[in-house]
Amino acid sequence: MNFTRKDFPAGFQFGAATSSYQIEGHAFGGAGSTHWDTFAATPGNVVRAENGDRGCEHYTRYEEDLDLVKAAGLDSYRFSTSWARVLPEGRGTPNPEGLDFYDRLTDAMLERGIKPCATLYHWELPSPLADMGGWRNRDVAKWFGDFTEVIMGRIGDRMHSVAPINEPWCVGWLSHFLGHHAPGMKDVRATARAMHHILLAHGTAIARMRGMGMDNLGGVFNMEWADPADDTPEAADAAALYDGYYNRFFLGGVFKKAYPANVMEGLAPHMPLGWQDDFETIAQPLDWLGINYYTRKLIAPNNDPWPSHEEVEGPLPKTFMDWEIYPEGLYKFLKRTAAEYTGDLPIYVTENGMANADVIKDGVVSDPERIDYVEKHLAMVRKAAEEGVPVKGYFLWSLLDNYEWALGYEKRFGMVHVDFDTMKRTPKASYHALKAALS
Ligand code: FCB
Repeated sequence: MNFTRKDFPAGFQFGAATSSYQIEGHAFGGAGSTHWDTFAATPGNVVRAENGDRGCEHYTRYEEDLDLVKAAGLDSYRFSTSWARVLPEGRGTPNPEGLDFYDRLTDAMLERGIKPCATLYHWELPSPLADMGGWRNRDVAKWFGDFTEVIMGRIGDRMHSVAPINEPWCVGWLSHFLGHHAPGMKDVRATARAMHHILLAHGTAIARMRGMGMDNLGGVFNMEWADPADDTPEAADAAALYDGYYNRFFLGGVFKKAYPANVMEGLAPHMPLGWQDDFETIAQPLDWLGINYYTRKLIAPNNDPWPSHEEVEGPLPKTFMDWEIYPEGLYKFLKRTAAEYTGDLPIYVTENGMANADVIKDGVVSDPERIDYVEKHLAMVRKAAEEGVPVKGYFLWSLLDNYEWALGYEKRFGMVHVDFDTMKRTPKASYHALKAALS
């Protein structure tokens, strides 16, 4: 790779990110059913109806995986804790095996000198809570707060950092409006409620962890840059609305105690009663902000009901996800977020990476595209840092090839190849390149 540690501010953290359902193997260790299990079991939702039953069998192979993190010279490991593994019913009696697993995992990181960076929820909602309306039910904030206390009561003393919810936009809009992720709803009222309750749950979890004396608490938001598809004012408005419900809604709630006006034009009639009174909880002070960044979208108006717009195919080179490669978007988000929302608060890039059509041949995986992608995005991080943005770290998505949600196991994001039959791990060229750059 075309950089060394010296190109970044002192103390800049390099890490890799994963999530529980995507790698652990949900069938192991007494975890309860989640809405991803039932979503995947319903025809048409997931490629080949694949689910997280096996994942990468990280549940039994975590030591080998953490050895890879360590050997790469990474400082930090961003992992998540499965609500349904810890509380199979979502509430009530914890599963001792689940708590023991996260306890072992934490100690295994510390033994290797790796900083544990936890995310409490990366999408596997326990089915019994989904039965009660899941993210549409206001009580989810309390349920999530209780889960937070159970899991952090066990491992919170050893965390380097914690964020409550991975990517509120995906939990809200992608899953309740577009229906692409569990619970697969397409309903504007469900969306408005879910988007708000996610932030209420985020704030509730932060407050509970403060109550436990914990610090270095943040929030992880995915951001997608939106450009108008042409230079008409209508396209500009369409892109601004996309930016509004994708990016600004969540940052607005957490940092300004307000939702963007263009988004509320569509969502206000569907919001839960009394939502305006929740901002004191939602806007708990944070210690850092995480940005997950992959791509941008070109947006054009159309005649559908609100939000009355659509994505248009863009001209840039694309990854195996068909996502345009647009490193400048990461720079723009780092600058804009600091300027408009977070000021001096440390920012981390908590996910960035690409799916590639990697093939393993004679035990070697060459992935020059991924090396190029990482180099270009890290150049943007460096540029933002040089211009004064307090960006303090970068986590590659992902350590391992894994379960890519509705796209099953075929979209490979790892810097380590996984053979999903034998579970053999093979570091790719990008892994070796990163290791060389960090050493
Ligand atoms: C992010 C998710 C992560 C993975 C990557 C490709 O939105 O947080 O689980 O699916 O995209």
